[in-house]
Amino acid sequence: MRPEPLPVGELLESARHRFIDRAAERGRAIRVEAPADLVVLADELRVRQALANLVDNAIRHGGGDIDLRARAARDGVEIDVSDHGAGFGADLAARAFERFTRASESRSGEGAGLGLAIVQAIAIGHGGSATILEGADGTTVRLVLPAGPPDEPEAPDPAASGAAASAPSQAPLI
Ligand SMILES: Nc1ncnc2c1ncn2[C@@H]1O[C@H](COP(=O)(O)OP(=O)(O)O)[C@@H](O)[C@H]1O
Ligand SMILES: [Mg+2]
Repeated sequence: MRPEPLPVGELLESARHRFIDRAAERGRAIRVEAPADLVVLADELRVRQALANLVDNAIRHGGGDIDLRARAARDGVEIDVSDHGAGFGADLAARAFERFTRASESRSGEGAGLGLAIVQAIAIGHGGSATILEGADGTTVRLVLPAGPPDEPEAPDPAASGAAASAPSQAPLI
């Protein structure tokens, strides 16, 4: 795990771009809504993987347009991946994060049933969570990840402005 501050809007935009063609082939749009300055403290490859698994699920198992939304919350940054399909149903939702859980073959198509187990492991690895929320307005999988420090402009680099470079660091003498 290599957590670093990452602008969440950029992560969502890049997930959108990765899947936009597959969604469009099915006549479905992917929308992104995130405050410009919202930052998560996360391992970039892992959070990208989690988002990809969720958008892939929304395309393959869900229906309608897909919304990727992020907002600041009390316990971190909430990232919602929502669609407007038939949903998990209560039985499946209760065990969807377990490995190899899938709906029947006819409903789920191909897939190993590992995507959501990986999503949850990534969320928990960051000290966060993954939750299924089913409502009248659609199906959402919510990731909560730790918030990063606010996205600030880069501090000026003293070396670049001609100031003396600091001496190379030495191992402490014990
Ligand atoms: N957005 C969704 N809407 C409805 N069902 C879903 C959705 N996402 C996942 N599922 C259900 O949860 C199961 C487990 O998902 P996942 O762990 O990603 O496995 P896989 O995608 O390989 O089948 C899926 O097979 C599907 O039945
Ligand atoms: Mg999947």
